[in-house]
Amino acid sequence: MDNSIEQIQQEALSQLKTASDRQGLEALSVKYFGRKGIVTRLLRNISSLPREERPAAGKNVNQLKVLLSDEIEKALQRLERSTPEPDDRIDVSLPGRALLKGSLHPITQITGRICDIFTKLGFTIVEGPEVETDYYNFEALNIPKNHPARDMQDTFYVSDNVVLRTHTSPIQVRTMEKEKPPVRIIAPGKVFRCDSDLTHTPMFHQVEGLLVDEKISFGDLKGTLTAFVHQMFDTETALRFRPSYFPFTEPSAEVDILCVICRGKGCRVCSQTGWLEVLGSGMVHPAVFENVGYDTGRFTGFAFGMGVERIALLKYGLDDIRKFYENDFRFLRQF
Ligand code: DAH
Repeated sequence: MDNSIEQIQQEALSQLKTASDRQGLEALSVKYFGRKGIVTRLLRNISSLPREERPAAGKNVNQLKVLLSDEIEKALQRLERSTPEPDDRIDVSLPGRALLKGSLHPITQITGRICDIFTKLGFTIVEGPEVETDYYNFEALNIPKNHPARDMQDTFYVSDNVVLRTHTSPIQVRTMEKEKPPVRIIAPGKVFRCDSDLTHTPMFHQVEGLLVDEKISFGDLKGTLTAFVHQMFDTETALRFRPSYFPFTEPSAEVDILCVICRGKGCRVCSQTGWLEVLGSGMVHPAVFENVGYDTGRFTGFAFGMGVERIALLKYGLDDIRKFYENDFRFLRQF
C-alpha cells in the first residue's frame, strides 16, 4: 500500500480510538468523508494519475474508505449501546409510589349521611350563624333568663347579648321568621359549649330538624325518627321515646336506641342500661310559634336535635370523642 495512504489509515484509527462521544465521531466522519474530506480528495485525485497507476491507487483508496467507514460505524454503535436512552433508566418493573388519598372527615361523612336520610324524606337543608344573639339562642326558644343553660359555665359569651350558639335550635326560629308553613327543614352545624372530657369537646356538631304543618301529631314525630334510626343504624334497632323536658317543646321526648354493642344486655357503653340516648325531640311549644307569628290554633309541629359526634361514636363503636379532633392520620384513615 502507498505510504501516504498507510499513514492516513494509522492516523485515522488512532483518532478513532480517542473519540469518546458522538460529536467527536461525527467530526472524524466529516474530516475523512466530507466534501473536502481526505478520502474524498484521494478518490477525486485518482483520475489525474497516470493511467497505469489508477487501478492500484483506486483499490488502495477504496480499501481505506471501506475500513474507515466501517470503523466509524462500529464506534458509533458501541457508543449507542453504552449510553442508555433516558427511557432505559426508568425501571418499569418497580412498583409505583401510591398517592396519598384524601377522604372526608368521619364527622362530615356522618353529617352527610344524616342529611341524605332526611332530604329523602322531603326535608330541606338550611344553615344559620355560629355566632348568635341571646334572642335566637335562648329567648325565642322559650329559655328563660334564669335557665341553667344560660350559665357562663356552659355558654361562651362573646358579649352580654351575643354567644357562640350552644345548639342548632336557633335555626328553627330564623327559618320560621322567614317562611310560612309548611316547613320541613334540617340544619347541620357546629355548636359550642364550655365543656371538655371523654364525651364532650368545646366544639361539636348537631343536626336540628323541624316540621310544621296543619295536623302534625306526635305520631308523625315517632314515625319520622323511627325511619331515621332504621336507616342510620339498621332496621333491627329498637327505639324508645322517653318523657323529657326542653323549654321549646311540649311534650318532649328523648329517643333511645337499643345498645348497638350489647343489644340490650347491658354493657360499659350503655352504662348497663341496655339503651343509648341519641336525640332530643318534642312537639314545638306554642310560645315558640307565638314568637315567630305562627297561628297556634292552625299549626302544630315537631322538632328534634341530635349530636353528630354521638351518632358517630355509636355507629363506629368508639368511646373517646376527642379522637375526632386530634388529627391523627392513623385514626382518620380508617373511615
Ligand atoms: N337543642 C337541644 C340540645 O342541644 C336538642 C333538642 C331537643 C333540639 C329537643 C330540639 C328538640 O329541636 O325538640 O340539647
